[in-house]
Amino acid sequence: MKIFIDTANLDEIKEAVSMGVIDGVTTNPSLMAKEKMPYREILKEICRLVKGPVSAEVVAVDAEGMVKEAMDLHSIADNITIKIPTIKEGLKAIKTLSERNIMTNATLCFSPSQALLVAKAGATFVSPFVGRLDDISQNGMDLIGQIIQIYGNYGFNTEVLVASVRNPLHVVQAAIMGADVATIPFKVIDQLMKHPLTDIGLQKFLEDWQKVNKG
Ligand code: G3P
Repeated sequence: MKIFIDTANLDEIKEAVSMGVIDGVTTNPSLMAKEKMPYREILKEICRLVKGPVSAEVVAVDAEGMVKEAMDLHSIADNITIKIPTIKEGLKAIKTLSERNIMTNATLCFSPSQALLVAKAGATFVSPFVGRLDDISQNGMDLIGQIIQIYGNYGFNTEVLVASVRNPLHVVQAAIMGADVATIPFKVIDQLMKHPLTDIGLQKFLEDWQKVNKG
């Protein structure tokens, strides 16, 4: 499973890249709003740090406006992937951009029917928001299973990108289900490596090594 980092923070991206686990980056307007630099400069720097897909989101809600914004964002770097909201106008924009060989990421997907249509339109990625479904007492990971099954039934090439990841269990379940990608906040990437028995074991080894040196 590919791992993308879900942030626009350059320090977090640098740290995660140095850990050797990052295949791409996803941003959104809310993540951009947390940063101080102009968004074009942030995107340019992210694309310098990460060669894989870097998602940047349009804010237009009509297809023509989305495509116009997409072309502008894509001029920043070839690995910019255009995040398009999963709405009817978004389908039209995805179709146009896919015909221009520009990668797209259908964002804010909350149902299998939406996922079916964005795949038909030619989306490169679909982003089902699992955490936000959990927030309203629906099991977000159930949606991932349904989309994987639908795409498998018909051989769609659209990659299932598990988004709105809130905890390590989301990541483990995504990997068990065979999702193509999980986009993960920095805090959760950190949590994935933590285990109390590793810490206790390491502590003991280091203490015992002190005894070896004394002998
Ligand atoms: O990047 C989109 C998505 O991952 C947002 O997550 O936590 O705001 O629902 P969240």
